[in-house]
Amino acid sequence: MTLPRHVAIIMDGNGRWAAARGLPRHAGHRQGVAPVRTSVEECVRRGVEALTLFAFSSENWRRPEPEVSGLMGLFVDALDRDLDELHARGVRLRFIGDRRSLAVRLQARMAGAEARTAANDGLKLQVAVGYGGRWDIVEAAKRLARACASGALRPEELTEERFAASLELAGLPDPDLFVRTGGERRISNFLLWNLAYTELWFSDCLWPDFDASELTRAFEFFASRQRRFGLTTPQTGETRDHA
Ligand code: IPE
Ligand code: IPE
Ligand code: MG
Repeated sequence: MTLPRHVAIIMDGNGRWAAARGLPRHAGHRQGVAPVRTSVEECVRRGVEALTLFAFSSENWRRPEPEVSGLMGLFVDALDRDLDELHARGVRLRFIGDRRSLAVRLQARMAGAEARTAANDGLKLQVAVGYGGRWDIVEAAKRLARACASGALRPEELTEERFAASLELAGLPDPDLFVRTGGERRISNFLLWNLAYTELWFSDCLWPDFDASELTRAFEFFASRQRRFGLTTPQTGETRDHA
């Protein structure tokens, strides 16, 4: 079975999972921690190179303050509880997104976790917190504009490769497989640049119910796709034609 090198997941549906049980939204977020662990374990087990998880978007800051601080508390707890295990499994953990609005103690834990796992050569795990695809692109543009203004870069030298190297996922292959749980079929300002040729898979499963068998369905979907990147089927060397 063809395995994706890089999987990107929008973990959506925690609030609806809780509402269906008459519980507060936070109960859904708490229940959403277990499927994060399962997804990481499955990707490690299968030998996936990179996994990028959307945990909190730049737009999620506009949610009610108690929900936001509840989520931030969960991130701190999860880091405290799971970092040893991730490190033991050889996971290299990084965070992407705008950290400046995060609590100082969370920023410190994130930096500590990144430093501790930096030399690991197992799964490359990116957690997007305070992340927005447009923010990412604008930050890259600012960095490149500064390089041009200082004379370090000429505008003619700017290529897609150089632009990509200024984005948060620099150095990683683009995601091959995108998964969104919770039934919505939208990108919600996730990795706008990097998803250009990603295979998109949507599941009605709410994130707290996501498990290894649902992830297997996503992998099977991916394996069944014929990726053409603009070419014709014969050009790709595929024998079967597409429907
Ligand atoms: C995803 O679940 C978690 C975050 C966005 C932080 P939601 O909280 O969006 O759950 P729904 O979509 O309201 O069910
Ligand atoms: C996307 O989910 C962001 C995360 C899962 C972190 P949302 O629930 O915020 O997306 P919308 O608002 O339904 O588009
Ligand atoms: Mg949602």
